[in-house]
Amino acid sequence: MSTLKKQIESLVSNPPSEKPTGFDSLFGEFLAALESGEIRSAEKTEKGWVANGWVKQGILLGFRYGKNVKQTENNDILEFFDKDTYPIQKINGRENNIRIVPGGSSVRRGAFVGKNVTMMPPMYINTGAYVDDGSMIDSHALVGSCAQVGKNVHLSAAAQLGGVLEPIGATPVVVEDNCMIGGNTGIYEGTQVGEGAVIGAGVVLTRSVPVFDLVNEKVYRGSKDTPLKIPSKAVVIPGSRMIENNAFAEQHKLAISTPVIIKYRDDNTDEATALESLLR
Ligand SMILES: CC(C)(COP(=O)(O)OP(=O)(O)OC[C@H]1O[C@@H](n2cnc3c(N)ncnc32)[C@H](O)[C@@H]1OP(=O)(O)O)[C@@H](O)C(=O)NCCC(=O)NCCS
Repeated sequence: MSTLKKQIESLVSNPPSEKPTGFDSLFGEFLAALESGEIRSAEKTEKGWVANGWVKQGILLGFRYGKNVKQTENNDILEFFDKDTYPIQKINGRENNIRIVPGGSSVRRGAFVGKNVTMMPPMYINTGAYVDDGSMIDSHALVGSCAQVGKNVHLSAAAQLGGVLEPIGATPVVVEDNCMIGGNTGIYEGTQVGEGAVIGAGVVLTRSVPVFDLVNEKVYRGSKDTPLKIPSKAVVIPGSRMIENNAFAEQHKLAISTPVIIKYRDDNTDEATALESLLR
């Protein structure tokens, strides 16, 4: 791994304008390490989640030296084009008991998919993403580039996890183990969702969205430099708050949407979010 890191870093600090000799095999090794989970674009340390800058830089090298090619050799009706460095990944379904139901889903090379993951069409997992064992990626869900998804997460229909490649130091969206991410949610700009949290249908989280914790009477926010962090086991639902100090808003009784932590996970929540084991 350290040799791989050194080779990637030396290409980044001294980038040749043409594809360097031996790049294909180096990049193949790099993608294989991402796909096996040996290296990750972000990981949890004692200081919290940190981005592995060299891994993200390695991913960008694939875009720099990749050539746009037809990706579907035997199909002239439905054609796909992408960088030759990022073909569709061949998933080892049989050995790892992963199911991909036919219908417009794909996992790009450079993504890690753990065992017993179920993916419903159409869904997309982008490069650098990490989806751990037992998670369910439902229809129309997006796991953006470098997003980190823990074990047994339910990413519901149309849930969008934003991607981040640049800036290199920016931590990606993180959803820790056992979270339930409801339908039509949007989790962007490096937001971190703590273990076991429930994001109710329709909630949108970004660095600019304050989240009001009714249990602990606190307000959580991100900033330009720090992501929004949702505490472990929080149950977040869509809320609204009045717009104050604006006569026009008051005249029209306008409010803006704001997520609210209504409670922390209890038996009711476990029942509401229980996964149907037969479907998995
Ligand atoms: C968050 C969620 C899991 C409910 O959690 P829960 O722990 O069962 O919540 P409860 O039913 O105990 O509700 C607690 C309070 O929050 C309110 N509430 C719960 N969910 C709400 C929502 N999504 N919007 C507004 N209010 C909500 C309830 O009305 C209740 O308030 P009350 O006590 O004043 O009546 C559920 O609302 C949700 O969003 N589920 C996701 C569904 C989904 O996306 N499925 C995808 C299938 S692919």
